Amino acid sequence: MTTVNIRELAERAKASGALDLAQGVIQVPPPAVLTDLFKKLPVSEISRYNNKRGVPEYRAAIAKYLARRGWEVPVENIAGTAGAMAGITSSLLQHCSPGAKVLLPEPFFQGHAQLLKSLGLEPVHVKTPYGEPIDWGSLAAHFPDVEAAIITTPSNPTGHVATHEQLETLITAGQEHNCFLIIDEMYREFVWDESKHDDSDHQNLDLSLAAVVRSFSKTLSIPGWRAGWIITSPELMEAISTVHDPIFAGGSTLAQNALAQALDKHDDELTVYVNELRDLCLTNAAAMLEAFAKIDMVGEMPAATYYLLLKHNRASDMEAFEELLKLGLVVTPGNAFFSDQSAETGYVRVHAGISTESRERVITALQG
Ligand SMILES: Cc1ncc(COP(=O)(O)O)c(C=O)c1O
Repeated sequence: MTTVNIRELAERAKASGALDLAQGVIQVPPPAVLTDLFKKLPVSEISRYNNKRGVPEYRAAIAKYLARRGWEVPVENIAGTAGAMAGITSSLLQHCSPGAKVLLPEPFFQGHAQLLKSLGLEPVHVKTPYGEPIDWGSLAAHFPDVEAAIITTPSNPTGHVATHEQLETLITAGQEHNCFLIIDEMYREFVWDESKHDDSDHQNLDLSLAAVVRSFSKTLSIPGWRAGWIITSPELMEAISTVHDPIFAGGSTLAQNALAQALDKHDDELTVYVNELRDLCLTNAAAMLEAFAKIDMVGEMPAATYYLLLKHNRASDMEAFEELLKLGLVVTPGNAFFSDQSAETGYVRVHAGISTESRERVITALQG
């Protein structure tokens, strides 16, 4: 199990005054239109427990938001969740028997590994070394041995994206083997070869034994609001919401009410915000790749996400980490994303979803 903990690295950065490039928290403030709506909420009226499936207006607004992106989803297939992680937790608890095996391809998002451990589920890892493409199709070979699989596309930390056909293949294989497919699309907005936000490919996904989870934690820079949603079949939705309800009570009524209004009436402003955030990430990434190359840490722009995987040629991932810490930068050692952290990867992961000031700080720190 993991010993390098990314949240602890972030705490260490804070305590030492170093810049946190480890935890993937977007550093720019959320859209002003959204925070203004939040401040104007009739708080005393909406501070009660949420509906089992979330605020109805929020679910309706998500349906419209998806339709604008070319994916028509009936409202009964959508539920609000307390972030993407609550959707994943509820899906796993609903489908898996105690101690069941769950496929978690590695490198993985640490939160997924920690969640499986907390739920007493047994991870089955399939490893793709850095620098190699994920063989999405081969993951299905493990479906007969597991009760569920967590597929993160775009992937954190590699930015690899499954094609529509690859997703369909996995969904079909999941159905054959009663393997519940949890598709984590946290980074859906951060696919770089897309000029517009388009989900039309998802229109025909068969979600009878699968769920897509997303949230606004990254896209609108509100991880503390715990505002996510899940899309699945109406039958599964009833079962998953029944698990989500006693733990997360439908998610935050405050966050969902503010988001419902923002999505409904201010879509243009939100789209501008997301586009500017994407541009910032791309500008940061280009400048940071150049700056890190000066100290022989080299990488390429990923296909998606704002994470840069840099090859470091130091004796160990931790040594690369310590070297950067001395320069005032906290990054994630590459082995933090694998189950066996004793194996060196030769990489560090650097978060580029940062502010312009932080980007300048990185460039200055690496100039020597
Ligand atoms: C792949 C992935 N899934 C889920 C999350 C957490 O999402 P949320 O804040 O919506 O629970 C993260 C956060 O970094 C992530 O990288």
